Amino acid sequence: MATTVITGIGELTTNDDALGTLTDAALVLDGDRIAWVGSASDAPAADERVDVEGRAVLPGWVDSHSHLVFAGDRTAEFAARMAGKPYQAGGIAVTVGATRAATDEELAANLRAHLDEAAAQGTTCMETKTGYGLTVADELRSAKVAAAADEVTFLGAHLVPPGEDADSYVDLVCGEMLDAVAPHVGWCDVFCEHGAFDADQSRRVLEAAKARGLGLRVHGNQLQQGPGVQLAVELGAASVDHCTYLDESDVDALAGSDTVATLLPACDLSTRQPLPDARALLDAGATVALAANCNPGSSYTSSMAFCVTTAVLQMRMTVEEAVRAATLGGAKALRRDSGEGAVGVLREGARADVHVLEAPSTTWLAYRPGVPLTRAVWRKGERIR
Ligand code: NIG
Repeated sequence: MATTVITGIGELTTNDDALGTLTDAALVLDGDRIAWVGSASDAPAADERVDVEGRAVLPGWVDSHSHLVFAGDRTAEFAARMAGKPYQAGGIAVTVGATRAATDEELAANLRAHLDEAAAQGTTCMETKTGYGLTVADELRSAKVAAAADEVTFLGAHLVPPGEDADSYVDLVCGEMLDAVAPHVGWCDVFCEHGAFDADQSRRVLEAAKARGLGLRVHGNQLQQGPGVQLAVELGAASVDHCTYLDESDVDALAGSDTVATLLPACDLSTRQPLPDARALLDAGATVALAANCNPGSSYTSSMAFCVTTAVLQMRMTVEEAVRAATLGGAKALRRDSGEGAVGVLREGARADVHVLEAPSTTWLAYRPGVPLTRAVWRKGERIR
């Protein structure tokens, strides 16, 4: 298999505790894995040599939260929101209608376009969810389409379909829908929020998923304080996402657990919610991830750089914390941060997912807000930009 040495790295963020951040560094890619990391002067020879001339290099972004199996858009809803109308979870139903009306090919093409859009900006590992089908047949085909992403999450419990009884719908999700979808997904999520699913309904869905061997994720505490975080921690979810409204006991619960607090700042901006208190979470010792939450309703962006910039400029995260949260944090939220083929980290044996910035250091992600800084990207060892 061909090897590539990337040399002349001015600043190399490895996210590996032993390696740390290196200057004047090099990396060797062998097939889809990292084969060597170290000082440029010690780099072994390789089939191909790429000199990045002092630029900063980091792991590709790991975007652990998106909703990309959808059709249509919600421009009018967004415009109304910017004119003062509040965000309501009920808007999801508009996308459900468009998604049900689309063909499998249209859904797959739309997903591919968004995955490619993200990859061009340095995202090399991406999770996506079902959740705009909400019938057994539509959730099943959504799960099959979603297989183009690195990780697939079943979100049948996204909204009670309009006109249906909530408890009967939860029965369907916990039974026939999970039976159909479980073989095609790794994760199950639930939108535990006033207006979506309450604590008891959310628990039923998560326990049914756990019984089928799926990993758990929760949408929690997005629009107001609620039981989502505590439920996620209690049930050992890998991640609870949004975390916009937390009280002290939520922060303590997260800090004392392996559940990652995944923050979605682009969503909070787009829905005109406050930004989450990242500082409280980090200072308490919780693991924080940043994700773009690309979806047509609450956060129509695939830009992880925008999330990092916002986290630094508006959420009192340092550049190092924000970059780590958008790479290793996402990998932890997907339980892909260790072992062979790990993502979000650059060390021997990790997946060869490499992001070269048009910048001498990652500090420029916040210092030059809004400027596209992706210079080159390798995903699984293949240069895609
Ligand atoms: O993560 N909160 C629930 N689900 C999505 C929004 C989906 C939509 O509005 O279409 C989210 O923000």
